Amino acid sequence: MDVRLALSRRRFFGGVAAAMGVLGLRPSAELFAQGGTAQFRGSDADYDAFAKLASNENNWGPPDSVMKAMNGAWKYANRYGYPDGNVVQVIADHHGVKPENILLTPGSGEVLSVMGTTFLKGGKKVVGAEPTYASVYQHASNIKAEAIKIPLKKDYRQDIGAMIEAANKHAAEIGFFYLCNPNNPTGAVVTAAEVKQIIEGIPKTMPILIDEAYHHFVDDPAYGTSLPYVLEGRPVVVARTFSKIAALAAMRIGYAVSTPEIIRDMRVYASGSINALAKWGAVASIKDTAAQADVKSKTIALRNKTTRELEAWGYPVIPSQTNFFMVSLEGRTVQPVIEEFRGKGILVGRPFPPMINHMRVSVGLPEEMDKFTKAFKEIFPKKAATTVSQG
Ligand SMILES: Cc1ncc(COP(=O)(O)O)c(C=O)c1O
Repeated sequence: MDVRLALSRRRFFGGVAAAMGVLGLRPSAELFAQGGTAQFRGSDADYDAFAKLASNENNWGPPDSVMKAMNGAWKYANRYGYPDGNVVQVIADHHGVKPENILLTPGSGEVLSVMGTTFLKGGKKVVGAEPTYASVYQHASNIKAEAIKIPLKKDYRQDIGAMIEAANKHAAEIGFFYLCNPNNPTGAVVTAAEVKQIIEGIPKTMPILIDEAYHHFVDDPAYGTSLPYVLEGRPVVVARTFSKIAALAAMRIGYAVSTPEIIRDMRVYASGSINALAKWGAVASIKDTAAQADVKSKTIALRNKTTRELEAWGYPVIPSQTNFFMVSLEGRTVQPVIEEFRGKGILVGRPFPPMINHMRVSVGLPEEMDKFTKAFKEIFPKKAATTVSQG
């Protein structure tokens, strides 16, 4: 790609494309952002050769049960109205709710944008943490809405008290409250008690979007899903995805769980465009609980092994409950470091301002994590070991 074009794309897509290092060592193998997802431009071989630790994907790939179900759905490729494995009913049963509580979307990213389209009309604002999964704020800015962003606390956890205070102070202007739990990019959870504090502390009618994209990786007993609040009839929207634990990121399937009234309002703005393979894959994935448990335990073990090594090398890691973690670069700025890793064939996460002295790393396969740790030790000198924070 022409460098000017790359630059204008970079400006256009802001932080996302900046992270892709379009001016890096391998312009033929660049990634750029499109429609909220990172796309790779370069040869297949280039792509395959990278250790992909940048996008919190599931590098193990879908299990056989899911591949088999998707392969069986090819026969519907030419159809509109086809059997879809009763995917909405299966999801509803899985959560003990009704089909009218579910909005199926091509990835949970669409839940996030539809939330904005539905609730930020007429100059309303979204309130949430910073940094968090910025897609909600980017979409708000695309539709000329504003965001009230509350900085994380010193320990990188979300400042629940300050978020509640802001929600009350600006209640009349707020369209919805956004909570990413666990948070991306830090990997920190908001405890069930803190979620309760939010639910009880903000106006009863204020919609709350709780993004549980990484729910399946959590093993902290203080965490709990916010789904019960939907059953209580609170204006809570829980977003879930098949992109992470189920390894179906490229298939694009996710969903919202909320009250029938909210789902009805959101459905007006949803594309409804989910393909047959994704639907059948999702159904098989929900049923294959053993495969999900396997991914969870392998991911946690590898995350803890890697972070222990980094901490022993002298670089503190923020305790994570997800398939990624943030390591402190002890004063170095992340962008040039991202490019150094790229030069070594490793893609790591983009900058997350204001945390520009931290680097987000997704947990990949064992050989990818070994490659990463080796590269880290080449790039960063050994320092006195820090407190080990991971289990
Ligand atoms: C917190 C969070 N929410 C939502 C998404 C969107 O994922 P998808 O659209 O693939 O479901 C992501 C993707 O990385 C994420 O990290």
